[in-house]
Amino acid sequence: MFKILTLGDIFGHSGRKLMETQVSSIKEQLGADMVIANIENASGGNGVTDANARELLSLGCIDVFTSGNHIFNQKDVNNILQQSDRLLRPANYPEPCPGRGWECYRIKGRRIAVANISGCAFMDNLDNPFLTFDKIWQEAQELCDIMCVDFHGEATSEKIAFGYYADGRANAVWGTHTHVQTADERILPAGSGYITDIGMCGPYDGVIGVQKEIIIKNFLTQRKTRHEPAKGASQINGALFTFDEEGKCLEITRLRRIYDTP
Ligand SMILES: [Fe+2]
Ligand SMILES: [Fe+2]
Repeated sequence: MFKILTLGDIFGHSGRKLMETQVSSIKEQLGADMVIANIENASGGNGVTDANARELLSLGCIDVFTSGNHIFNQKDVNNILQQSDRLLRPANYPEPCPGRGWECYRIKGRRIAVANISGCAFMDNLDNPFLTFDKIWQEAQELCDIMCVDFHGEATSEKIAFGYYADGRANAVWGTHTHVQTADERILPAGSGYITDIGMCGPYDGVIGVQKEIIIKNFLTQRKTRHEPAKGASQINGALFTFDEEGKCLEITRLRRIYDTP
């Protein structure tokens, strides 16, 4: 058996603190062999700085970080994207962009490929995510025992369609980006573990991480103002995938924890 714990978008200081204080014990409680977390909102909810990326990479309890449409928001992220093979950006960004979109890791004797792909529905106009997966799969299938995809997308229809498209090739597909966990986890017909969105890690009493008063004001006035992370209670959302010796997904279980503290 091999268990992979996936964690949704890490949001701001609260999200980073949860990684530091909670993830080791959750990993142990759940018996996870590997942890993959989405880093795209780790710095104030807006991308990730070089310093915050290094800090999270050095925690030791998280093996791989995926990201999404906010990954290039902080100017100094380029170096760490080039230097670390444990930090991924969506594979369907154009070729000149720094960083890598997928990688194969060896953990506890298993070869695990992790791909990060962005959706295109209501998102940036990147290369076709379905064809991007085909290209990755051509290379990765010989290199890995378990293939995982963090599909970072807005539209549930695109994510579900991608799940079926990758079913039988990817062993696990989970969605990120909306910051709201969906209750549709299942094993698809050809054996892939799938969930439309695993949710976020960070402030609980906010609008997908941001102070609620700011977002309500935005909706009332149709004028955008600077986003600030919400304060107070916090949450960790994710999913645990369990695989057999052949890499077949046996089970997918949602993780959702709420804390009174930031
Ligand atoms: Fe996000
Ligand atoms: Fe996103």
